Amino acid sequence: MRITVVGSINLDHVASAPRLPGPGETVTGATLARHPGGKGANQALAAARLGAEVTMIGRVGRDGMAGEALALLLEADIDVAGVITDAEAPTGVALIAVDPSGENQIVVAAGANYSVTPEQLPQRIEGPLILQLELPVATVEAAVGRAVGFVCINLAPAAPVSEALLRRADLIVVNETEAAYYGDLLHSGGGRVVVTLGARGAQLFQRGGLIAEASPPEVTAVDATGAGDTFVGAITVALLEGMAPEAALRFACAAGAIAATRPGAQPSLPMRDEVEAILAG
Ligand code: RIB
Repeated sequence: MRITVVGSINLDHVASAPRLPGPGETVTGATLARHPGGKGANQALAAARLGAEVTMIGRVGRDGMAGEALALLLEADIDVAGVITDAEAPTGVALIAVDPSGENQIVVAAGANYSVTPEQLPQRIEGPLILQLELPVATVEAAVGRAVGFVCINLAPAAPVSEALLRRADLIVVNETEAAYYGDLLHSGGGRVVVTLGARGAQLFQRGGLIAEASPPEVTAVDATGAGDTFVGAITVALLEGMAPEAALRFACAAGAIAATRPGAQPSLPMRDEVEAILAG
């Protein structure tokens, strides 16, 4: 199975703080770390660590952050030939604050991610495709239009998209906030819709009807960053492998739960044997 991911690549700057700031507030006492991130790159790495071959299409800057942002994709043998170095825009950066319970706040400076244009995409995208909304929506729409296989779209962060895109998706993944943003539009196509519920698990709908649900194993969360992206990569791999809906949900919930037990986005993403071990109890 070779999955193509068209999506964002960031270098995350993570401040682990005693608590998250309110509007206009300064919180001191944090420690700083840098990790590769970006929803697209995270989902690509999640799928690769769970057993898929992956091709990444995206854009980074001509700067010192690009190598760091791509390091774990290269280590996982992800094909990054479709990642362009932009001559002007910097590598995308996410500023992330995390509190001791693992809750986070994220601000993204998209940089080169917003320079991924439809011209950068292949005319025809063979095989399964995963997308999110951290690239220009026109590029996401163009990618979906050129896809000839299974399409999974993670509508994150929520933004207006065409009804044609929603109808074309074989699988839509949203969290509760995104589900509320799109409302009934989510179910306008015949594809499956997964709503993730954090520590409460996830639900899978088809044509608006609930067909499966699952809860994650109990874990102690230290950083939720990347857990949702892990879920997206995992549910795509599981469904493409032919797992039944409930088993696929359980697999993806377990993968996401493991990611939440470790700091950072990409460093926290689980390997296949870890997910199988936690599922086996
Ligand atoms: O979903 C988590 C990701 O969102 C982070 O890695 C950050 O880069 C932002 O894009």
